[in-house]
Amino acid sequence: MNIAIFASGSGSNAENIIQYFSGRNDVRFPVILSNKENAGIHERAKRLGVPSICFTSKELKETDNVLNMLKEHQINFIVLAGFLLKIPTNLIDAYPNKIINIHPALLPKYGGKGMYGDFVHQAVVANSETKSGITIHYVNENYDEGNIIFQAKCEVTSTDTPETLASKVHELEYQHFPQVIEKLIDDFRFTILDFQK
Ligand code: GRF
Repeated sequence: MNIAIFASGSGSNAENIIQYFSGRNDVRFPVILSNKENAGIHERAKRLGVPSICFTSKELKETDNVLNMLKEHQINFIVLAGFLLKIPTNLIDAYPNKIINIHPALLPKYGGKGMYGDFVHQAVVANSETKSGITIHYVNENYDEGNIIFQAKCEVTSTDTPETLASKVHELEYQHFPQVIEKLIDDFRFTILDFQK
């Protein structure tokens, strides 16, 4: 199983996922892809010994370059971990139900264009929500609208700030994201084995 991680930010989820799977030699991370040259993810990738490659948003949207990179590395599953660009149809068609994203709130609330990172937590706190959490979902052509695979909740208290909420949500991400990925890829592998019988 060859997994590609896409990340635009610090990459703490990417690192957590790669470390989680370090004991499994049947799950590999041949490449990390990013649209941000100076994102923290590159430093982490170097430390983890995983090559990281950059592309522009134009390249992603208007060419097959990214798809070709994925094919070159024989990628069969894609994880978006803090990746901010919309995934174009050439990738969605090539990887049906094989691209997942994590969103730092309880979708369908607080999703869509512009709802990312701290903006999400600011909005949740400003609306005095009492619950937030994480949503792991399949990726389709629209931001944050693919079928939901998994959600976990945390309390939002009256003393929470966007920063304290962000750290609660990150904890949920570290706890659940690798396990959800593991379940999905193991189910997926079964399907392939069944098919080959
Ligand atoms: C996470 O909160 C994730 O839910 C969101 O972006 C953040 C990425 O954080 N999509 P990191 O780069 O993994 O530290």
